[in-house]
Amino acid sequence: MSRAESHLLLAVSLCVFLALSPCALASGNGNGKPLVTAITKDAATSLYTVPIKDGHPLVLDLSGALVWTACDASHPTLECHHHFCMHAHSYHPPDCPHNGYGRADVEDPFRCKCTAHPYNPFSGESATADLTRTRLSANATDGKNPLYPVSFTAVTSCAPDSLLAKLPAGAVGVAGLARTRLALQAQVARSQKVANKFALCLPSGGDGMAIFGGGPLFLIPPGRPDVTANLDGETPLHRNKDLPGYFISATKIAVNQEQVHLYSQEPLVVELSSRIPYTMLRPDVYRAVIDAFDMATAGRKRVTPPVAPFELCYDSRELGSTRLGYAVPQIDLVLERGKNWTVFGGNSMAQVSDNTACLALVKMKGEKGNPPAVVIGGFQMENNLVVFDDEKARLGFSGLLWGRQTTCSNFNFTLAA
Ligand SMILES: *[C@@H]1O[C@H](CO)[C@@H](O)[C@H](O)[C@H]1NC(C)=O
Ligand SMILES: *[C@@H]1O[C@H](CO)[C@@H](O)[C@H](O)[C@H]1NC(C)=O
Ligand SMILES: *[C@@H]1O[C@H](CO)[C@@H](O)[C@H](O)[C@H]1NC(C)=O
Repeated sequence: MSRAESHLLLAVSLCVFLALSPCALASGNGNGKPLVTAITKDAATSLYTVPIKDGHPLVLDLSGALVWTACDASHPTLECHHHFCMHAHSYHPPDCPHNGYGRADVEDPFRCKCTAHPYNPFSGESATADLTRTRLSANATDGKNPLYPVSFTAVTSCAPDSLLAKLPAGAVGVAGLARTRLALQAQVARSQKVANKFALCLPSGGDGMAIFGGGPLFLIPPGRPDVTANLDGETPLHRNKDLPGYFISATKIAVNQEQVHLYSQEPLVVELSSRIPYTMLRPDVYRAVIDAFDMATAGRKRVTPPVAPFELCYDSRELGSTRLGYAVPQIDLVLERGKNWTVFGGNSMAQVSDNTACLALVKMKGEKGNPPAVVIGGFQMENNLVVFDDEKARLGFSGLLWGRQTTCSNFNFTLAA
């Protein structure tokens, strides 16, 4: 972050600190306006959270089918015949037996109380717990500022406290964002009467932001065009029969604008995941990309041995920099319909210590069945606006915002006057 950017950030955080909320919490609906929330990156886990449960954070999970949180001992429970109970059972966590839709009520054995299977992707554990309703809150937005707080009721799963293990400190659950009826954005769409889509702008530091229900989005400094109307590219979203997350298709990968030779000529299945810090590549794809990058950086000063889990590390004092990050070869994922998701230095090189930066790609391990060729992780999405549009089955992306002299931490979180 440049000095000017950090000053701006400081100014914005001061404004937020000094602003007194003039509005009572508006209830029910935001009058068809999208909702905005801040995104924080947890340093210990590299997970991203949003403070939407009474101000407490939920972890964002692009592959999560449900929203789940710890519940009070007394909470309402949906009945088994409710259509949301059926939706809660449309995806099952791995290794979780399908044992019906619920449990008999202790007081009334003729009543069936709906249970769901919240899943903690970071510990790999799942549980069986009641399907309930919870108040969540965020601010309505015009795309420039938060306007006023809105709270709405969402159908969520309870979870035993033990399921919170391995989440960032303070997190009270997980906000699933997958392509399901009970994912957070689908519930915002229904309660606020907005489009079933959302845009994520993951921060590398400071507060990033998510907008649920569509654009526009204006980042500071003022006077810039709407980012959502000026995306670098768009590509179709595909469904995977077993997983509810986001899948796109790539035809090839290029390093330094030269095509990487891959064993398989099949289109590459690419998933986007907020569960992993760095992009993972299937072993055959990993080898080919690492070798190509190694060749393309042959003259650069290496740091050996490299810093695990990475394989190519460089003396960052000698890499040179551009406004898109370190001056290293770009990596292009050539997507279906011809657009490129281009990874520049800002999203490819992780600074692991003062003088060392490494190519932030890792090899997939223990993959079962038919894994995606590429799983794009958090670091590679940072400071890019990524638009997930379930209704139109389209994924849009801005490319690295540094190229537009802005970052994901440049949303003006001061409540509009
Ligand atoms: C709304 O925005 C204000 C200003 O950024 C923030 O302090 C407040 O916590 C937000 N409210 C909700 C419910 O997210
Ligand atoms: C996408 O990347 C490939 C490989 O670097 C390049 O040949 C092609 O011109 C790029 N396409 C666009 C639309 O930029
Ligand atoms: C942020 O928004 C507030 C309220 O609209 C405005 O007064 C302030 O000038 C904005 N800050 C920047 C840096 O644009």
